[in-house]
Amino acid sequence: MPTPTTHRWLRWPSEPDRKRMGYGADYNPEQWPRQTWDEDVRLMREAGVNVVSLAIFSWARIQPERDTWNFAWLDEVIDLLHANGIAVDLATATASPPPWLATEHPEILPVTADGSILSPGARQHWRPTSPVFREHALNLVTQMAERYKDHPAVCAWHISNELGCHNIYDYSDDAANAFRVWLTDRYGSIDALNDAWGTDFWSQRYTRFEQILPPRQAASHPNPTQQLDFKRFSSDALKGYLREERDILQRITPEIPITTNFMVMGETKGMDYADWAAEVDFVANDHYFVPSPQAQDELSFSANLTGNIAGGKPWFLMEHSTSAVNWQPVNTPRKPGTLRRDSLTHVAHGADAVCFFQWRQSKVGAEKFHSAMVPHAGEGSPIFRTVVDLGHELAALSDVVGTRRSTAPAAIVFDWDSWWASEQDSHPSDRLRYKQEALDWYSAFLALGIRADVVPTATDLTAYSLVVAPVLHTVPAALEARLEAYVHGGGHLVASYFSGITDENDHIWLGGYPGALADLLGIRIDEFGALLDGDDVHLDNGTTATLWADRVHPRVDGVEVLSRYTTNDHAGDAAITRRSVGPGSASYVGARLGASGIEPVLADLAARAVVVSELPTELRGAIEHVLRTGDDADYAFLINRTDSPVDITGIDGDTITGEHSILAPRSVTVRKLPRTTTS
Ligand code: GAL
Repeated sequence: MPTPTTHRWLRWPSEPDRKRMGYGADYNPEQWPRQTWDEDVRLMREAGVNVVSLAIFSWARIQPERDTWNFAWLDEVIDLLHANGIAVDLATATASPPPWLATEHPEILPVTADGSILSPGARQHWRPTSPVFREHALNLVTQMAERYKDHPAVCAWHISNELGCHNIYDYSDDAANAFRVWLTDRYGSIDALNDAWGTDFWSQRYTRFEQILPPRQAASHPNPTQQLDFKRFSSDALKGYLREERDILQRITPEIPITTNFMVMGETKGMDYADWAAEVDFVANDHYFVPSPQAQDELSFSANLTGNIAGGKPWFLMEHSTSAVNWQPVNTPRKPGTLRRDSLTHVAHGADAVCFFQWRQSKVGAEKFHSAMVPHAGEGSPIFRTVVDLGHELAALSDVVGTRRSTAPAAIVFDWDSWWASEQDSHPSDRLRYKQEALDWYSAFLALGIRADVVPTATDLTAYSLVVAPVLHTVPAALEARLEAYVHGGGHLVASYFSGITDENDHIWLGGYPGALADLLGIRIDEFGALLDGDDVHLDNGTTATLWADRVHPRVDGVEVLSRYTTNDHAGDAAITRRSVGPGSASYVGARLGASGIEPVLADLAARAVVVSELPTELRGAIEHVLRTGDDADYAFLINRTDSPVDITGIDGDTITGEHSILAPRSVTVRKLPRTTTS
């Protein structure tokens, strides 16, 4: 058992008088011989690593058999880290069940929609709702908490790992039982469920909750509301599991903050993190850079949304990569400068810790080709040298630690229900990608140099002069009332195609599209404008619609047509409209224009809303400008989005890091500004 000392090393993020940026990685010492650990801590010190996530995949080591426990190695590693001044974000180790558990209890294994049982042999092969899994996992959590509750190295608990990464949708009998309980809770009676699900369609009317199943593979499209509810249930089921681990930890170690690593904007869209955020003491996120023309924007979008999910408070970048990953079809190394730029972009959006997967690159296993802080080439490698430099630079940013995101003048609403519902089957187009549409608007804001927050739907919008709601498909009456009040209060709302279509039960709002928003926008659409692949429609503002082109009919006075179609059967019909409502307005963009097509439209709408870039004209588009705000000062991050140098002479502030006048390609500078903002 480790010897407790009174020296509490780091209690991120609640250590007000000892501010420092967290820096570190997932550390998997069980993959290496003992002597490597000494080299690890030597190199960690050299790199300025001050926190590691430990024991994430260690269950089989800690509990190799049902009644055998082996903590000695973990005690030793934690003590070694502590002796070297490195704090531990200690995992509860429940992410991946050991072979004995899956062998003794195959009933913990997840089941796919077509009834296949997922085998052990990879990771995360457990049903979120399995009582048997929970019993064993929660026992492990209790053992971990009891053993390490007094260890001064433990700065946080890391619940499981990326909950839902591989097991968000489980169609097992356990899931069916839990789904019925969730539905009973939501609807109260089977009649209410029948109404919500519209079960008179295709003879689906239920007489008892016991008849209900998850939307398993069926002869045709399963009931859409059943599908949407199953998505909500699946997010809630994992949130419930998160709570169960958390409650144990809070009972045994009330002083140690808990977190779990989210994957905001990751490939798995199943977890409603806006809804999960209140369950953790601080938000942590994992982000992986996937090469694409919008990759840098996507990274910024993810960091921005994470910061707003965290309510503007600092958060923890728990994982990103020093270079290539192993899980893309082709895994390219990073371009020079992007490791630093990406890290500082996360910091700009509120991260107070920059961590990687993983510390030392594995020599065996599925992730042996995934980059790390110490690559196969060792400490002499360019990657390790970059890692060391970044560690020093982050140490110089301690003043930024604890500061909050500054509220931007504009916002993009991000809505999990709309993400889930708009991409369901049997729709006008299965090509629609909710996240892509939101990202395109974000790219346009970046191109115009206008700061915009990406905010969950529940956020109070009144602080924003301009709010964009891309594909806000699911609009319950209460949301419609909020948007109405926002516009009548002087706000400027922009909605894009396929918005306002359904209520929370996925029922169409009747009377013409865009349904719930038709009155506010002052328009009517009779038929959706889905376009075939390869088809396009031109607009008189020089942009081109692909995928979607609604023909919009103004239906009240005061609706201005900002743009019309010029080609095909659409020629002459309105594509973009704007209705003035007192000092506010409600605009509709009925076509999918892509980032570059949105840019001039947004420029016009932002100008009308008097939302302007805070950057000099020549820097707009080249520089991403982000602000954090503290008690005494603001911190401006100027991020070079381009591969060329950018002249930033004349920009205010004391340079804390980065260049003063010519910002190198892909570089970042951080400036301290006298306190000016109020948020
Ligand atoms: C994350 C996961 C890590 C590692 C990493 C590789 O999804 O949490 O354990 O697998 O991806 O990119």
